[in-house]
Amino acid sequence: MLEVNNINTFYGRIQALWDVCLKIEEGEIAALIGANGAGKSTLLNTISGVIHPTSGSITFLGQRIDGLPPHSIVELGISHIPEGRKLFTDMSVRENLEMGAYSSRVWKQKQETLEQVYQLFPVLKERAKQLARTLSGGEQQMVAMGRGLMSRPKLCIIDEPSNGLAPKLVTEVFEKIKSLREQGITILLIEQNVRHTLEIADHACVLENGRIALEGDCDELLKSDHIRKAYLGL
Ligand SMILES: Nc1ncnc2c1ncn2[C@@H]1O[C@H](COP(=O)(O)OP(=O)(O)O)[C@@H](O)[C@H]1O
Ligand SMILES: [Mg+2]
Repeated sequence: MLEVNNINTFYGRIQALWDVCLKIEEGEIAALIGANGAGKSTLLNTISGVIHPTSGSITFLGQRIDGLPPHSIVELGISHIPEGRKLFTDMSVRENLEMGAYSSRVWKQKQETLEQVYQLFPVLKERAKQLARTLSGGEQQMVAMGRGLMSRPKLCIIDEPSNGLAPKLVTEVFEKIKSLREQGITILLIEQNVRHTLEIADHACVLENGRIALEGDCDELLKSDHIRKAYLGL
């Protein structure tokens, strides 16, 4: 579904991604793990067109997308749920959700999509009129995910959704991600919570200092000495 080929991405003269390759199959949960500063968010921002790579290519469903502006990439079916949620905090929950449906492909269906989002996250229906900033961290993450779904994506790329949440809510976020896959949405998930991630994902890549250090099926990676020492503290 998505193929990232030999991407190099810079911030000014500083190189953040080095020859990064990544493949995602339709229907899977793919995970990207790595320490702080490894380049995970940079890779997601490169896929969603927020920053452009200086070389390499990205294809989505057979079409080149590197170089396209972010809104065109959303139109093609990729939704980016950003690190730190990035809500419109002085707008209501419902307005935040509607902002996710601005693309012309989905605007007409927004009422129907909204009902689907409310089914997945019933708490958002209860809180529809509340300002986003008055919600708890967990509820705000649900708004960010719901907003991402309003563009009716084929691929959702999700950056550290469980960051800063209490353990019970972390479990809930992971459950919601699994239900997205059940609805046929392909997922690329970034997480610091490595064990939990490798347990729900099919395939994972490990990014270290801007380079892919390791990749494989999650059951294999859970057995790898490097993963156990460096990421699971075993
Ligand atoms: N806007 C930016 N300008 C300059 N350097 C940046 C910027 N964003 C990230 N970086 C640098 O790029 C590297 C990768 O960062 P990032 O992709 O945010 O890592 P991660 O998401 O894995 O924590 C880090 O060294 C970081 O300091
Ligand atoms: Mg990050």
